[in-house]
Amino acid sequence: MEYFEWNDSLSVHDVLIDEDHKILIGMVNELHDAADLGKDYITLSSILERLAAYTREHFQREEDLMQSIAYPRYKAHKEQHRKLLERVTDLQQELNRAREMVALETAELLRFWLSSHILLSDKHLADTLHGTALIAETEQLPATD
Ligand SMILES: [Fe+2]
Repeated sequence: MEYFEWNDSLSVHDVLIDEDHKILIGMVNELHDAADLGKDYITLSSILERLAAYTREHFQREEDLMQSIAYPRYKAHKEQHRKLLERVTDLQQELNRAREMVALETAELLRFWLSSHILLSDKHLADTLHGTALIAETEQLPATD
């Protein structure tokens, strides 16, 4: 069973709009399944990129149709589209930020860990190798791991 199933109740009885909606639903499933399978950032962001681009194209097609018939609810409907695109753009940036945050946290961990490990453990190892160790062997090394 798919995460987002197409069914007849979703049909608007316009072949072109229905086809667009089916493609979008397929992309939503692709995004969901990739995330569910723990796919990497590049895979997720490229699916999201394609999904956002297709959504934008689809909305434009609907808006062109609305204008062609001087649709009375054009403004309100277009506004719904605009708000959704704004949220999707925010979420794309959120995904980027999350990725940056993980990279920054890793850098921070390694900066701290390497500085103390080099000073406390590797320096003693090198001093011992070169016979210049100042720390008596009975002295305990502070744990850095
Ligand atoms: Fe729409």
